[in-house]
Parts: sequence; structure tokens; C-alpha cells
Amino acid sequence: MIRKSEEEIALMREPCRIVKDCLAFVGERICAGMTTKEVDDLVYRFIKGNGAEPSCLGYCGYPASACVSVNEVVVHGIPDDRVLMEGDIVSVDLCAYKNGFHGDGARTFRIGNVSPEKDKLVRVTEQCFFEGIKGLKAGTPLFDIGYQVQKYAELNGFSVIRAYTGHGIGREMHEDPSVPNFGRKGTGVRLQAGMVICVEPMIAAGSWRVKVLDDGWTAVTADGRPAAHYENTLVIREDGVEILTL
Ligand code: MF3
Ligand code: CO
Repeated sequence: MIRKSEEEIALMREPCRIVKDCLAFVGERICAGMTTKEVDDLVYRFIKGNGAEPSCLGYCGYPASACVSVNEVVVHGIPDDRVLMEGDIVSVDLCAYKNGFHGDGARTFRIGNVSPEKDKLVRVTEQCFFEGIKGLKAGTPLFDIGYQVQKYAELNGFSVIRAYTGHGIGREMHEDPSVPNFGRKGTGVRLQAGMVICVEPMIAAGSWRVKVLDDGWTAVTADGRPAAHYENTLVIREDGVEILTL
């Protein structure tokens, strides 16, 4: 696991700032009638316009700048001509590369009025992130994060996706350690100051089981019920965390 120097962390602020601002830019524009491809175009132009590269584009053959995942799509939804409709929930996950480093973040947006269940799912998924990082600082056992995420999700009647996790980030988009959203309190390696990780709860309204569609990317819930996603890049500090994409 890589600890970053203050100089390296300083270089990461800009790609992370671009991720944060891009997510806000998309949030102000996303609406019913737009296609997921149009959402991706907004992301591509914003990232390029800020002098960065969309890390996802071409990553392991991924064909777009953002993952745009509607309703039952958990993650890695490939933007296409699907039209967003009132009542949808849409997660937008994107990475920017600049200064030799990546930043990574995701939000789930509501399209107009959504069902009470979807509304609660989005709210609980965001809160799962904040529950996950409660008390997080140098010395915290890694799986405390997942323990806290899982506890809050299940308390609210939802389930935690197991097949995908958070991760370290830096010069590579995915570095060690893997950061699961489930786990046993007090277990896992102890996180150290200067580590930069992405905490990204992916929460399902029904079962946590997923299947990947024939395109090799799109992960959907096996039961077809909705899922939500929320992610930030953060630095582990001696006395807490510093969130770079919020
Ligand atoms: N941003 C995603 C993550 O949180 C990665 C997307 S996979 C890609 O790890 F292929 F789209 F890049
Ligand atoms: Co990530």
C-alpha cells in the first residue's frame, strides 16, 4: 500500500477538484429526456475543458468517460441512447487524470420525483459513506469502514453489494488496498497517514446479488430492484480524513 507525500497529495487536489466540480456540473444539468450518452458528453467536455483526461475512457477497453448507471444498474453502465425518465435514479461515476494522478467520485441523482423507496435508497447510500468514514484516521483497521457501511445499510433494510469495492488511488486509478463495503470490525490492515483511498458504497434495495450483462461491463442487480452508488476520494490523516472530492 502506497503512502503519498504531501507533494503528491498536493498534485492530487486538482484531478479531485475536477471530479467534484464535474459531478456538480452534471447534477445541475441532468434531467428527464436526456440520454445517458448526453450525460457522458457533458463529462467528457468538462474534464477536457479543465485540462484533464477522463481516466475511464479506454480503461480495460471501457468505451466512455463516465459510468452512467440507471435504476437496477449497479455500476459500470455504458452510456448509450437510453433516455432518462422521471422517477429514475442515475449514478454517475467518473475519474479525472491530471498532474500524473487520478481522482475518482460518484453521485446518484434523482430524475424529478422518485418513489419513496428510491428516495430513501439514495439518501441511505450517501449516509453509508459518512457512516463508513466515522472515526476513520491513521491506525483504523481497514474493514471497520465496511463494517460501518454494512451496519447502516442493513439497519435501513437494504443490502451491500459484495462484487465491487472501493480501492486505493494515485498514479493508478486502482491501487491497493481493496476497500470492501462489508466486513468485521477490528479486522484488516491498519490504514496509515498519507494513504489515499476511494470509499464507495454501492447499496441495493433488494438482494446484493449482481450479474454482468453480455457487454462485459454493465452490472445489474439479479432481482432487478434499484441500486445506488456514492463515492469520494480521501486522504487518511493522523487525526481524521481529508475528503478531496467534496
Ligand atoms: N470509477 C470507477 C471506480 O470507482 C471505475 C470505473 S471502471 C471504468 O473504480 F472502466 F469505467 F473505468
Ligand atoms: Co472508485
